[in-house]
Amino acid sequence: MTTTTPASPFSPDLQRRATELVAQMTLEEKAGLTSGSDFWHTKGVERLDLEPVMVTDGPHGLRKQAGDTDHLGLNASVPATCFPTAAALGSTWDPELVERVGRALGEETAANDVAVILGPGVNMKRSPLCGRNFEYVSEDPLLAGRIAAALVAGIQSQGVGTSLKHFAANNQETDRLRVDAQVDERTLREVYLPAFEQVVRRCQPWTVMCSYNRINGTYASEDPWLLTEVLREQWGYEGLVVSDWGAVNERVPGLAAGLDLEMPASGGRTDAQVVAAVRSGELDESVLDAAATRVTAMILAGHATLGARTGVGSDGATAFDADAHHAIARQAAAAGTVLLRNDKVPGPDGAAPVLPLSAAGLTAEAPLALIGEFARTPRYQGAGSSQINPTRLDTALEAFEAALGARAVRFAPGYRLAEAAGKPGQELGAAELRQQAVEAARGATAVIVAGLPQASESEGYDRTHMDIPTDQVDLIRAVGEAAARTVVVLVGGSAMEVASWQEAADALLVAWLGGQAGGSAIADVVLGAVAPTGHLAETLPVALSDVPAQLNFPGADSQVRYGEGVFIGYRAFDAMSREVAYPFGHGLTYTSFALSDLVVAPAAGSGAVVAGGAMSPADTAAQDTVLATVRATVTNTGAREGAQVVQLYVGREGTGHVQRAARELAGFAKVSLAPGESREVELPVTQRDLAFWDAPTGAWVVEAGRYTVNVGFSSRDLPLAESIEVQAPPLVRPLKMDSSVKEWLDHPVGGPLMRAELPEFVAGLEADPSTYELMTPMPANRLAVFPGGFGWERYLALLARAQRAEPPA
Ligand code: BGC
Repeated sequence: MTTTTPASPFSPDLQRRATELVAQMTLEEKAGLTSGSDFWHTKGVERLDLEPVMVTDGPHGLRKQAGDTDHLGLNASVPATCFPTAAALGSTWDPELVERVGRALGEETAANDVAVILGPGVNMKRSPLCGRNFEYVSEDPLLAGRIAAALVAGIQSQGVGTSLKHFAANNQETDRLRVDAQVDERTLREVYLPAFEQVVRRCQPWTVMCSYNRINGTYASEDPWLLTEVLREQWGYEGLVVSDWGAVNERVPGLAAGLDLEMPASGGRTDAQVVAAVRSGELDESVLDAAATRVTAMILAGHATLGARTGVGSDGATAFDADAHHAIARQAAAAGTVLLRNDKVPGPDGAAPVLPLSAAGLTAEAPLALIGEFARTPRYQGAGSSQINPTRLDTALEAFEAALGARAVRFAPGYRLAEAAGKPGQELGAAELRQQAVEAARGATAVIVAGLPQASESEGYDRTHMDIPTDQVDLIRAVGEAAARTVVVLVGGSAMEVASWQEAADALLVAWLGGQAGGSAIADVVLGAVAPTGHLAETLPVALSDVPAQLNFPGADSQVRYGEGVFIGYRAFDAMSREVAYPFGHGLTYTSFALSDLVVAPAAGSGAVVAGGAMSPADTAAQDTVLATVRATVTNTGAREGAQVVQLYVGREGTGHVQRAARELAGFAKVSLAPGESREVELPVTQRDLAFWDAPTGAWVVEAGRYTVNVGFSSRDLPLAESIEVQAPPLVRPLKMDSSVKEWLDHPVGGPLMRAELPEFVAGLEADPSTYELMTPMPANRLAVFPGGFGWERYLALLARAQRAEPPA
């Protein structure tokens, strides 16, 4: 792996060279540079020795098509390590490990002459049904941002670029090329944008990919607010914006809005539009220059790493250590596997958790019943543009056989799977397959690998329900009855319904889509060679109907309203005190932990937590200001080494200015501890962690009041709580014509003025609490002209004085 400073389009040297090159280009050459030359390559400018570079998918492995090309995963690609999907990487809650995955991905990207790998995706999991949830990290922006930033840092450390996608509000596949996501700004700022913001601010991805959809009526690919005001001016993004493949609606308004590179090729048609727009004065040439410079800098950075190779038509030689990368993929898959439950069952030494299974107890005489076609035909990645051609593929069946000896494993397919057609047993009907499995499992220890068949989730369409197939549920119930103990391992890229059948199992794991080594990781975890340390990055609801977003998912007539606002995932379930099957953040392992000694220390040693109030969206220094430091001690109270994720949540108590989630993740730390070992974890609470987006003023605002600080092991297992009083300036709105009487009275200038000038009116309101409640929400200008009111002229005079901030006479 590269050890010197990795090439970067942001280096002053490359920026200067890019500017010099663009200054020598003709108008046509510059326009040409801002669209692709084919499916996967930029253009170049031969005359200036600027060769094209290749960019390709992504995100959990390299999909480089050496032959026929497409963006839907239909044609073959060169072999590459298929790492666990984002759903699994998110569940690791382990940025360090994910950064290692990133480094390996970057190495393969460079080894294959590719300048940019198209990922990661950080869209929020608004609904469990989004067909592409496997490619996304979490329902929580902080977790998604941290994991994706680690991946980007790892990839870019190898001198190749990433493409942070799909910017923004691309939370469904239904009608994805046209759908208008109608989202209020507060919801965008607090839920759908922060993961992008975090990655941009922390590690400047070489490229950001704008999404297909529209947001509040405007295509993302031509939205100046999104691509320029927010992304560049407020977040300080310096790289280039590339369109998702085919996302350009109108190229010229797109360029003007901040879209630098159209992909794939447009056949020259839109380049000519750009040239004409510059000639006619419709498009300022400096806008084109800026876009061409960004593309050029990216190309130069690619070549700096890829050396003399042209990048075009290279044979995709795999000059990387495939074994080492497979091992990283295996480790990451195990780390992302979440142990949801692990019941105690009677054993030789009394009752003990069913997992890990003891390999010693599984022999030719007492074999493990390994059930489920997925154990032989693994489901390990999702369908669509992210589909990787793996360098090798582990199956759980082979992995258990390798660990226990082939004779200690009795396999039964258990159910039919379209992707396994032709394999032994697949010709049987559901009842026969079930019966066969029940016989294999009778009295034995059974491990059932079940989950979502390939066709049930994919890029391009959404799921219509959250269930695993009914024949698999019937199988789990029947095997659960017959076996001595039953372990169910779920595979799939998104939340699945478990509440109605999970009682049939003694232990339940979710392994997600774990990449090419996922099969081995399942055996590692079940047999205890590796302890599971994953935690849910998405809630498992009891039923789909519990998810508020479903009321508006996936919309109709190319419109989808995000009516639930900020209340997605655990924010929604907690707001409604709704039972869940397994909460966000949950995950067990093979040892136990305790938490103690919570301390919330206000910054600067003062006794109080003092916040600054309103912060501009560009003011990172204010947002990152630490208000308090939270410390807690975690202890491994069990008999085995293990890792735990200490999670910090904060939430404002009582009624504030806007409706807020009861708690929101503000930090986490994954800690590995030996038995008996303790460690103090320290997590900061920043101004931004406590802020909400105040749409009328366009600022982040910390309100004064009490906030709960919780520390625990999941969003619903929070043994430590502390309440802190935060002092902050009051939220002041400028008074306007229809401000309510309450807004007047609360206003630092208007309140004293109204009290001084209209004493009888205010006294009348305050004499009786219910009159006060009834009248003060009314606009003051209406009350002024009511019969007996204080009069229109007096109101206008009062308003003018308040707006001039004139104190009472
Ligand atoms: C997907 C992107 C992908 C691109 C290129 C699009 O359909 O939405 O995620 O990177 O194709 O394959």
